[in-house]
This record gives sequence, structure tokens and C-alpha cells, in this order.
Amino acid sequence: MDGNGRWARERGAPRYEGHRAGMKSVRDVVEGSIEAGLEILTLFAFSHENWQRPAHEIAFLMKLLQLYAKSEGQELADTGVEVHVVGDMERLQKSARKAIDLITSKTRGGDRLQLVLAISYGGRAELVLAARRLAERVVGEKLDPDDIDEKSFAAELLTAPWRDPDLMIRTSGEYRISNFMLWQLAYSELYSTPTLWPDFTREDLFEAILDYQRRERRFGKVSV
Ligand code: FPP
Repeated sequence: MDGNGRWARERGAPRYEGHRAGMKSVRDVVEGSIEAGLEILTLFAFSHENWQRPAHEIAFLMKLLQLYAKSEGQELADTGVEVHVVGDMERLQKSARKAIDLITSKTRGGDRLQLVLAISYGGRAELVLAARRLAERVVGEKLDPDDIDEKSFAAELLTAPWRDPDLMIRTSGEYRISNFMLWQLAYSELYSTPTLWPDFTREDLFEAILDYQRRERRFGKVSV
């Protein structure tokens, strides 16, 4: 969800106004995802690297998260959205962790859309964690190194419950992966739009899906 800061700057407003406006896009894109029949929507809300931002900006983003959990949890539950969070929860303040517990428990059982929020998430850290977990099992003689393969590795990732993304949308015209789901994006289709996140609507999502539908996915094989 990139471009909040630039959106604010274009209006001579402080960066947090961009994040606040970005919340509107979150709502619209979640509704649009249900409308389009998507099963899983992952939103990259806060990266490992974002911890290096000024403390007041981090505090504002955490407040937004709490606000989202409090004000939207019930509506998400009513519309059948099940919320999950992936990332390093240890680094979050207790209040943010409580908000996450609230929204995940309130929406448990939702069967129309799995909404995965990546918060305090970093792709490399996730891979290191998976490697560490496997190493611990080998040391504990619960796993034979010969049995480590792509399937057992993927099972240790934070995203183990879900399929790999079919499509990754990057807003604000960037062409970078920025440490997002490094393993899971291996065969994902990439889509970049110049639209800044606060201007991104469900129509932009539909456009990205239409573009995706015109792609030919070969997964390294030849076309038939
Ligand atoms: C990147 O834009 C955006 C973020 C770091 C925060 C995204 C968060 C939200 C939209 C609101 C919270 C969401 C939920 C689901 C509760 P940027 O600040 O890097 O923009 P820039 O590159 O233009 O500076």
C-alpha cells in the first residue's frame, strides 16, 4: 500500500494524512475483493524497515491499526471476512497486539474472504525464521535433513495456511518487491500502477485483475 506520504505531500499535508486517507482505500479494496470473488487478500501494512521511521509516524500507524480493529471488526465479521496477521508481533506494543487479538478473534470463522495483514513483516526475516525452525527440529532429531524440501520449508513460513499469491499489485509506480513474500512470489504475476494508495479504489483492483486474466501463466513450462 505504497504512496501515502507522496499523496499527502502533493496536498501540502503531513504524512499521517496520507495514511488516514489510505484507510479509505483499505475499506474499498476489501469490499471490492469480496465483490470480485477473491478468496485471499494480503495487505502489506507495515514492514520491518518501517520501524526505522520517526516514532510519531509509527505511533500514528499503530493507532490506525487499533482504530481499524475497533471500528471495523464487527462489520468485517458480518460480511464474512476472516482477518489474520503475519509478522513479528514481538516488536509491537501491547495495545497493538491487543487490537490484533480483538480483530482476529472477532472475525474468526469468516468464509467469504481471508484478509491477511502483513504487519511488522519482512520476507527475509520470515525465511530466516523458517530455517531456524527446521534447524531446531533437526537438532531435536525430529527431522531428517534429507526430508527438507520445498513443501516442508513452505510449511514453516508465516503464510503456511494460504496459497501463494496469484497477483501482486504495487501502487505508486514502484517496481520493487521491497522484502515482501520473497518465497511466495516466485511465480506470482506482478502489476504496477502509478496510482498512489490513497487514490486506489476497487475499480483499480478490478483493472489489475482484468490485466492478470490476460496473462499466460506457464510456471516455467511451455504453453499448450
Ligand atoms: C506506505 O506508504 C504505507 C505505509 C507504510 C502504511 C500503510 C498503512 C495504511 C494504509 C493504514 C493502516 C492499514 C490497516 C490495514 C490498518 P509510504 O508512507 O511509504 O508512502 P511514500 O512512499 O509516498 O512516502
